[in-house]
Amino acid sequence: MKNSIKQNLFRSLIRLSQSPISRIYRIFPWVITWHISSMCNLRCVYCTVPREDTHPDFKRALRKIIKLKPKLLVISGGEPLLVPNLEAIVQKIKREVDPYIIVNTNATLPRRVVPLLPYVDEFAISIDGLGEVNKRARGIDGDKIIECIQSTLDEIKAQGLETSITALCLVTNDNYTLIPSLVHRLHELSPHIRTNLLPMQPYTHPLSIASNPANYSEFVKIVTNLSNQGFRIRVTGPFCEKGAMKEVACYRQYFRGAVDKDGVFIPCKPYAYAAYFLHELGRAISERNPLMFMQILKQMIDSLILHRYDPVCPFPCNCDDYVDSILLCESVELLWREPRNLLSRLNLGEMKETYDFIAKHINPKFNPDLLNSNKLKGKESFTFIALPPIFCAQAPTVKNKMSIKKKDSNNEYK
Ligand SMILES: C[S@@+](CC[C@H](N)C(=O)[O-])C[C@H]1O[C@@H](n2cnc3c(N)ncnc32)[C@H](O)[C@@H]1O
Ligand code: SF4
Ligand code: SF4
Repeated sequence: MKNSIKQNLFRSLIRLSQSPISRIYRIFPWVITWHISSMCNLRCVYCTVPREDTHPDFKRALRKIIKLKPKLLVISGGEPLLVPNLEAIVQKIKREVDPYIIVNTNATLPRRVVPLLPYVDEFAISIDGLGEVNKRARGIDGDKIIECIQSTLDEIKAQGLETSITALCLVTNDNYTLIPSLVHRLHELSPHIRTNLLPMQPYTHPLSIASNPANYSEFVKIVTNLSNQGFRIRVTGPFCEKGAMKEVACYRQYFRGAVDKDGVFIPCKPYAYAAYFLHELGRAISERNPLMFMQILKQMIDSLILHRYDPVCPFPCNCDDYVDSILLCESVELLWREPRNLLSRLNLGEMKETYDFIAKHINPKFNPDLLNSNKLKGKESFTFIALPPIFCAQAPTVKNKMSIKKKDSNNEYK
């Protein structure tokens, strides 16, 4: 109850302040995650999606998305396949905006996947393991999800489509040793399926792989081994070989955001940051710790007012982390499928505007060819398998960020 009051208050604040503040903070809404509904037919043990009984305002949310014109749209939830008119919604977005569309689903409703296939570019299917492993965490036998993936692949082939499938495997202390069996099974279904490994958040939770250094180190070996064998896997989130990072330099924050089920757009800065700082200030008050209060207040003023393009994020997440690979990357060949599809949708004006922003605020050494290269057109190639680093460069430490800022710029926009 208390949480829902807080949530409503926060949403109202966002609505009130959205337009004037957007003018102060430059935001390029390239990547939008639409939390289309909080309804779900599963009760996964780790899920933090709030269960709300209010009806989503689909029309308002749809209008917002069309206005924002994302290059890449992730439709998530709750469970998006429970939305009765999803096909019409996706069709309209495809027609009016044509972003690269990813539907993030629990794959428990295979018949609802089929009508979406012509309009969706990628299905991101959650599966934590085979058989009982998935059942323990997600309440449904993993083999049923494998069946859904198989039937979707068959349908894609039958319809002559190019829809991609990515498996999302949430990594916990319970399932990490069984990741190889899942990856091998997925590879048998199709060598084109990629597996994204998501260590459970919060990283301090006893179930999260990141909370146990011995298990985490074992996990790193498993992932390295699979990657060396050429399997298409990546770990998403603020991780290095040693574990989770508490603070990262996040470059993608001005290029992404979420739209909630009522159509409220929530970019990281200032909204997610403000929510974090307000929460921390509340914690300092409840712990009666004036020193902590002053430190957080200082951090808040510094981050939100004095240095609004400072990329340090004290609450790192795994959302859309591939966008950082554009902002820091020097080679088109190293880009994954999502950034390639995203960049190929930028028009000339957007490229120029984006390049100026990146060179000024993020990376003076940014390679503008990344924005306008013809090589970006088309699908990720099959030879791309083991190229990207498994622990991506997209969440560098604060120290790395400083070294990037110091480099001189000699790029010219072509
Ligand atoms: C919230 S779900 C919504 C979409 C859909 N219902 C599904 O499960 O795929 C989106 C993704 O978040 C992941 N997820 C849920 N709880 C998480 C947590 N505590 N930490 C990290 N990822 C989580 C899920 O495994 C899923 O891949
Ligand atoms: S299926 Fe997705 S939304 Fe539903 S409980 Fe599981 S993680 Fe949460
Ligand atoms: S790491 Fe922080 S700033 Fe970056 S996307 Fe996640 S919440 Fe936003």
